Amino acid sequence: MENFHLFLLLLLFLPHLASCTEKQVYIVYFGEHNGEKTIHEIEENHQSYLFSVKDSEDDAKSSLVYSYKHSINGFAALLTQDEASKLSKKEEVLSVYQSNPRKYSLHTTRSWEFAGVQETRNVNNLKKEDLLLKSRYGKDVIVGMLDNGVWPESKSFSDEGMGAIPQSWKGICQSGDAFNSSNCNKKIIGARYYIKGYEAYYGPLNRTLDYLSPRDKDGHGTHTSSTVGGRRVDNVSAIGGFARGTASGGAPLSRLAIYKVCWAIPGEGKENGNTCFEEDMLAAIDDAIGDGVDVLSISIGSTQPTPYNEDGIAIGALHAVKRNIVVACSAGNSGPGPSTLTNPAPWIITVGASSVDRKFVAPVLLGSGLKIEGEAATPHKLEKKLYPLVYAAQVINSDEPKNLSGQCLPGSLSPKKTKGKIVLCLRGNGTRVGKGGEVKRAGGIGFILGNSKANGNELAADAHFLPATSVTYENALKILKYISSTKAPKAYIVPSKTELDTKPAPFMASFTSRGPNTISPNILKPDITAPGLNILAAWSEASSPTKLDIDHRVVKYNILSGTSMSCPHIGGASALLKAIHHSWSSAAIRSALVTSAELNNNEGKMITDASGNPADPFQFGSGHFAPTKAADPGLIYDASYTDYLLFLCSSNEVQNLDSSFKCPKNNSPSPSNLNYPSLAIPKLNGTVTIVRTVTNVGSSKSVYFVSVKSPLGISVKISPPILYFNRTGQKKSFTITVKRQSEMTDTIEKGKYGFGWYTWFDGIHVVRSPMAVSVA
Ligand SMILES: *[C@@H]1O[C@H](CO)[C@@H](O)[C@H](O)[C@H]1NC(C)=O
Ligand SMILES: *[C@@H]1O[C@H](CO)[C@@H](O)[C@H](O)[C@H]1NC(C)=O
Ligand SMILES: *[C@@H]1O[C@H](CO)[C@@H](O)[C@H](O)[C@H]1NC(C)=O
Ligand SMILES: *[C@@H]1O[C@H](CO)[C@@H](O)[C@H](O)[C@H]1NC(C)=O
Ligand SMILES: *[C@@H]1O[C@H](CO)[C@@H](O)[C@H](O)[C@H]1NC(C)=O
Ligand SMILES: *[C@@H]1O[C@H](CO)[C@@H](O)[C@H](O)[C@H]1NC(C)=O
Ligand SMILES: *[C@@H]1O[C@H](CO)[C@@H](O)[C@H](O)[C@H]1NC(C)=O
Repeated sequence: MENFHLFLLLLLFLPHLASCTEKQVYIVYFGEHNGEKTIHEIEENHQSYLFSVKDSEDDAKSSLVYSYKHSINGFAALLTQDEASKLSKKEEVLSVYQSNPRKYSLHTTRSWEFAGVQETRNVNNLKKEDLLLKSRYGKDVIVGMLDNGVWPESKSFSDEGMGAIPQSWKGICQSGDAFNSSNCNKKIIGARYYIKGYEAYYGPLNRTLDYLSPRDKDGHGTHTSSTVGGRRVDNVSAIGGFARGTASGGAPLSRLAIYKVCWAIPGEGKENGNTCFEEDMLAAIDDAIGDGVDVLSISIGSTQPTPYNEDGIAIGALHAVKRNIVVACSAGNSGPGPSTLTNPAPWIITVGASSVDRKFVAPVLLGSGLKIEGEAATPHKLEKKLYPLVYAAQVINSDEPKNLSGQCLPGSLSPKKTKGKIVLCLRGNGTRVGKGGEVKRAGGIGFILGNSKANGNELAADAHFLPATSVTYENALKILKYISSTKAPKAYIVPSKTELDTKPAPFMASFTSRGPNTISPNILKPDITAPGLNILAAWSEASSPTKLDIDHRVVKYNILSGTSMSCPHIGGASALLKAIHHSWSSAAIRSALVTSAELNNNEGKMITDASGNPADPFQFGSGHFAPTKAADPGLIYDASYTDYLLFLCSSNEVQNLDSSFKCPKNNSPSPSNLNYPSLAIPKLNGTVTIVRTVTNVGSSKSVYFVSVKSPLGISVKISPPILYFNRTGQKKSFTITVKRQSEMTDTIEKGKYGFGWYTWFDGIHVVRSPMAVSVA
């Protein structure tokens, strides 16, 4: 083993060595396991494939990184390009592809680090009379978390009053650095870690960077796990006492199974991210399936569009969904541009991020008397008086390049010019909290963080190191104007305080990744949005709230933003639904969440983006999640594993994912016909007719009427317009005929999407589906 790692390290430092002999981790995928085989037989079988391309049996054995045994039939191994190519030609092999070391990471970026305490609005506000109570808050549903571990001592993971671990559970509690079986309990019922792929690339883990165990040294995994299933913890408070109150996860009586798959990157600060190797994630998902999880929450995504047969999350999720495990994934933080979304597969619930109705208000008073709104969650306060105010570019060291001069990058400010002043810095490069750190280093007394145009009105409630606030782009311009037009500009930053029931809420986060779906344009993504801006949850005490090296503060709860935070809200909501509707498929649970989602904000208007412009389904899918309504959705759009394979037939992908499936010979199904709870039609040319089938899950006798809001210039007809049901479980099909309105031909921009809705209503249940159509 020693030599093996040394060899890899050499490769790491000499990447220019002849690439045909260089060994990389490849994933060799066979699809499903056929027939009952013992784990030993499976491993021998995988090794025999390796042996057929390697010189010796020993070489074959030592090259094997993982042998996937439960559901996924495949292995990960160190191969040369030649060996990989030979394997890909074998008949049983569906695909062979190289694992890319920086392809996947957790969906929190270095820009979204916060500290403080905050409850998540919707999930916490469940009323006693809510139907969801019947679910006993996700009782005994097992949620698997693919993330970077857990801090098990957090009160959020107390198992007080919880019953025996479900009999179906087959997982383990794996020991390692600062973690043993005593760290699992009746809440955290399993914990494992997966690092072979990481170590094959980076060499042995630097154990000052991370724990070689399921323990979390970062905070992210603790945050997402407690968002899904954290217990109710009263009277928790952040640094500075912000948002004192009760913290609780969405499904507090669910059980958590921790699968640590993401690790710190050697030589980079924790605030700069992490990496999750595909072969490690596949091993984790395969084990999670074998262990018996009901839901998987995966706040991880790829940095590049990836076809399903080379996307470890998509492959793993397909195996999970075949066993009725619900898989929720984050959409990504690469907004606001279009086509930035990850995790686009139709068997995944893809989650965007939006705000909650709570703010940490910290306005700026200018010498002119003007009051500018701001937000921060910093415990530091200024004595009440006016202080000299400067724009960072006015106080930089003389050798700094001008183009980044407003950014307060490390070392850029001149202490002589900065001392005793409030400094306005702009977002862009560098971390938000790091900019405040630079102002403090240079002797500044206060810090105003101004948004760049791309950030719009979205403000992050950061735990800065000094008195500080953050302002919108428009307000940053106002402050700049005041500075440039005033002889001795002055300002005061009012200490921040928590404000509740703020309006409008929710609005879409500007960072949330957007559709259209580049991999499957006929599937509308994301599916839904959930809280992902300034979210409170539990934190690792081996990290600091900002993760910066210079920050030595320890907190039990922290505020974070990202689709990483919204995904576990849907993971938790899925657990709530699963606890009521044990037998529902993962598609049924997604359908219930999607068709019941809310379109309006708390002002009764359509949800907007961070700048106040109307948002659309490429940002929020069907809208903001409403778990209480989802518990009783009326109708569902169900889909089976076979339906997903039929969908894959339409793009000729099925042979790379499940070779046992035979696509219909003559008429390949249209990809739009997957029974999805939403509809996307790219490049409409002529007339398209789509079939959908709904299942009545409400009262036995019901009558549903359809209403349609067509995209501009598009005609949408639904037939029949009335559906009669006389029993629960009854299915009814209808057609949706979509065509261009000829008289509107010139008004629609080619390739540009228009949005609409079709809604079934029985007087009680609103079953709404969004649609997105572009014309050829
Ligand atoms: C786990 O570790 C703790 C602390 O080192 C120790 O007290 C405890 O006995 C260990 N438990 C087991 C089951 O080994
Ligand atoms: C491990 O990480 C620590 C902290 O970043 C660093 O100081 C140390 O040099 C690293 N050790 C090795 C062997 O790279
Ligand atoms: C909450 O905690 C704070 C500080 O620990 C304490 O002063 C306060 O009395 C507590 N409030 C309640 C309601 O327990
Ligand atoms: C800023 O200017 C320097 C030279 O003055 C240049 O090298 C650098 O690429 C510029 N950076 C940006 C972000 O424009
Ligand atoms: C950040 O830095 C990169 C590389 O120097 C540059 O390309 C980019 O434009 C910068 N962004 C901003 C907002 O200054
Ligand atoms: C339910 O409706 C179907 C047709 O829609 C009809 O054939 C059947 O008799 C009905 N059953 C009851 C119990 O009314
Ligand atoms: C639309 O369909 C017609 C008939 O099939 C075809 O001739 C035409 O090229 C199509 N237009 C586009 C833009 O695809």
